[in-house]
Amino acid sequence: MEKKILRAGLVGLGGMGRGHLGNYLKFNAEGDIIELVAVCDIDPSKFEKADIKFNLESEKNDADCSAFRRYTSMDDMLANEELDMVTIALPTYLHCEATVKFLEAGVHVLCEKPMGLTLEQCDTMIETAKRCGKQLMIGQCLRFWEEYRQLKQIVEDGTYGKPLSGFFYRGGQTPRWNVDGVENWYLKKECGGGAIIDQHVHDVDMVQYLYGMPKAVSSVGMVVHPGCNFETVTTNYIYEDGKSINAQNDWNWTGQPFFMGYRANFAEGSVRWENGQFIKAGPGEKMTQYELAKSNAYYNETRYFAECIRDGKENTINPPESSRDTIRLVLAEIASCEQNGAPVEL
Ligand SMILES: NC(=O)c1ccc[n+]([C@@H]2O[C@H](COP(=O)([O-])OP(=O)(O)OC[C@H]3O[C@@H](n4cnc5c(N)ncnc54)[C@H](O)[C@@H]3O)[C@@H](O)[C@H]2O)c1
Repeated sequence: MEKKILRAGLVGLGGMGRGHLGNYLKFNAEGDIIELVAVCDIDPSKFEKADIKFNLESEKNDADCSAFRRYTSMDDMLANEELDMVTIALPTYLHCEATVKFLEAGVHVLCEKPMGLTLEQCDTMIETAKRCGKQLMIGQCLRFWEEYRQLKQIVEDGTYGKPLSGFFYRGGQTPRWNVDGVENWYLKKECGGGAIIDQHVHDVDMVQYLYGMPKAVSSVGMVVHPGCNFETVTTNYIYEDGKSINAQNDWNWTGQPFFMGYRANFAEGSVRWENGQFIKAGPGEKMTQYELAKSNAYYNETRYFAECIRDGKENTINPPESSRDTIRLVLAEIASCEQNGAPVEL
C-alpha cells in the first residue's frame, strides 16, 4: 500500500523557522513522508535568501522560499491550502493563538517550545487538540537529541543503577538575531518569558523526562535587561530520595558561543556530555569517549510527529501533557526565584 505524503506548512521564518525550513527541504528531497507546500511570515522579506546569525550553527540555511506558496497571513494560508500538518515557529506569545487556529482548521500542529507562558495557554492548546481530534506536539527537541536519548536509555534500562546526581546546563549570548529594525520580543517578559522560560525550559523538560516530577524546586535567578523575566537561573530539584539534580542557565555570556551539556551519575556508572564529548563508564568499565552517530534533533522530531499522524501512532515520546508539566515546573521555579530560593512545592 502506498503511504500517504503529508502536506505541510511552516509559519514563522525567523531564526528557528529557518532551521525547520532546512529540514523541510530535506524531507521534500526524500519524498517519502512530508512535503512542505506553503510558508507564512508576516514579513515578506523573510521569503528571500537569508543568512541569520542564529545560536544553532548546524541549523542555518540561506534558501529562499520561491519553491513554496508564500503567505503573509495565517488566515490566507488556511483559506488557500489543504494542509495535513504545520510547524509553528512564531514568537512564544503567539504559540497558543496560532496553535488553536490551525487545530480548529483541522491541521495537526507541531509548535515550537516553550508551549506557552501560562498554564491556561497550555490547557487551551491541549483541550483544542482533543476537541478537534488532531495531534499536537511541542518542539521539546532534546527528547530527539542523540546525547539526551542515550541518557534517557541509561535511566530507563537501569543498567547503571539508581540515579545519584545530575547537572544540566546551557548558556550563551543574549538572543539578538531577530532585532533588525524591530524590538526584541525575547527580552520582554510578556512576550518571551525570559531565559528561564525560553532556554532553561529545555533542561527542565529533560529533568522531568528523565527523573519524573520533583516534589519541590528551589531556584535563584537575576533579571539583567529591564522588562525581561529571569535571565540567569540555577535550580535544585528536590526529590523524595534526595538525589542531587540541578540545572543552570544564563544567556548573558559575553563573547561565548551557545553551549550545552550535562553530567549524570548513577550508583554503578556515569555519563557526561561536555564540550561536545560524550563520555561514559558502565558497571566495571573504564571511562570511554564515544563518537555518536550524527543526527539532527529537529529533523528527528518532525519525522516522529509525521509518523504519528500518518500511522495513527500514539505519541509516547513527547505528548503535550508532558510539555504542560514542564511549564508547570518552570512556573514553580519562577515563583521560587521571586522568593530568592524558597522551596516551592509542585
Ligand atoms: N527548539 C529550539 O531549540 C529553539 C531555538 C530557538 C528558538 N526556538 C523557539 O522558536 C520560536 C521562534 O523563535 P525565533 O528565534 O525563530 O524568533 P524570530 O523572532 O527570529 O522569528 C519569528 C518569525 O515570526 C514572524 N512572525 C511574527 N508574527 C507573525 C504573525 N502574526 N504571522 C506570521 N509570522 C509572524 C516574524 O516576522 C519572524 O520572522 C520561539 O518560540 C523560540 O522560543 C526554539
